[in-house]
Amino acid sequence: MQEIKKGLEGIVALDTRISFIDGMQGILRYRGIDIEQLAGMTYDAVSYLLVNGEIPNEQELAAYSARLKTERRINGEMTDIMRICNYGSEALDSLRTAISCTAQMDYENDNNSLEANKNKAIRLIAKLPTMIAVMYRCKNGEIPLQPDDDLSHGANFLYMLRGEEPSAIEAEAIEKDFILSAEHELNPSTFALRIAASTLADAYSAIIAGLCTLKGPLHGGARKGVMEMLDEVAVPENANDYVLYKLARKQKIMGFGHRVYRNYDPRSRIFKEMAKKVAKENGDTTYYEVAENLEHVMYREFLEVRGRPIYPNVDFYSAVIYKYLQIPPELATSVFAIGRVSGWTAHCFEQYTDNRVIRPRAHYV
Ligand SMILES: CC(C)(COP(=O)(O)OP(=O)(O)OC[C@H]1O[C@@H](n2cnc3c(N)ncnc32)[C@H](O)[C@@H]1OP(=O)(O)O)[C@@H](O)C(=O)NCCC(=O)NCCS
Repeated sequence: MQEIKKGLEGIVALDTRISFIDGMQGILRYRGIDIEQLAGMTYDAVSYLLVNGEIPNEQELAAYSARLKTERRINGEMTDIMRICNYGSEALDSLRTAISCTAQMDYENDNNSLEANKNKAIRLIAKLPTMIAVMYRCKNGEIPLQPDDDLSHGANFLYMLRGEEPSAIEAEAIEKDFILSAEHELNPSTFALRIAASTLADAYSAIIAGLCTLKGPLHGGARKGVMEMLDEVAVPENANDYVLYKLARKQKIMGFGHRVYRNYDPRSRIFKEMAKKVAKENGDTTYYEVAENLEHVMYREFLEVRGRPIYPNVDFYSAVIYKYLQIPPELATSVFAIGRVSGWTAHCFEQYTDNRVIRPRAHYV
């Protein structure tokens, strides 16, 4: 019998040109470019890079950004659907419906050519922020706002959600969030998406498979868990007892640990710096201090008890930023999806281009 690797740990399933991770050294690159450099670009440029495989020149970027802006709008029918959906504790349930409806309204839905698929990618990248803002405002009895074409991808989302333009620091924070969340090799949602794409299911169906997988609290859902934890811990002095209580009961602390990184996740480092900046601008640094204390206690406990430290993952300090940006916890996983959708579409195209149906075996017991 072949050895079974539970959770497929360490199994290399395919070749990719989209991203590279060195988990020991804490390196992440999208299409050969270090995450530190990508973090200083715009989400438009990074999503272009992921979807098209190369950095856009000035004209290409201008044309792409203009196209995204025209595609930001959603029609009246979609607004009505968002109003009816009226999600409960998890907005992703409505977002899933919204993407399904977008597919049904898209005349290219069943066209699996690269050109049609790139059109779908643009539509999804552009419309996801609008859908989330509209569903949130409808749920709260507020009038949905039209996108503002003068604002960047991130700033426009915050404007449509909150009804006021973000500060320069807030705009920088959300733009970085989308960039750092955009792509991460064969994480669970991307793998689920690639399985769907390997059956030659259409791109929307594959993206929905990815979106549904993102929802889980051990994956994208952890961001919401961190936000709730920050409120529960409330003050920095409680961090120690909180962690000890959870660990004694073998409960997971959201936003820590990673299958691939055995060192500090490079995205976390950037998020931490950004979180400090938004906290400082806000004036009340409590959430940031709570997070820093949680990080210290987790590091100490894992090092002392297991001989190996644990580090915050991508969901930890991003959740601190969401608190300061007043993004409610029930939107956290959906906001993660705004960034991730460009990576998902890139993987979808890569699977179509060099396809063999993904179908492993199970050992019968
Ligand atoms: C990310 C994650 C799913 C990785 O899973 P994995 O590679 O299967 O690692 P494991 O869950 O097997 O972790 C190894 C050990 O560390 C512990 N551990 C890992 N992350 C932990 C956490 N966040 N809190 C407490 N304990 C943790 C596990 O309980 C396990 O202990 P055991 O050997 O006594 O059973 C896991 O670290 C986790 O659940 N983190 C919290 C959820 C989260 O933040 N998810 C977002 C990922 S980007």
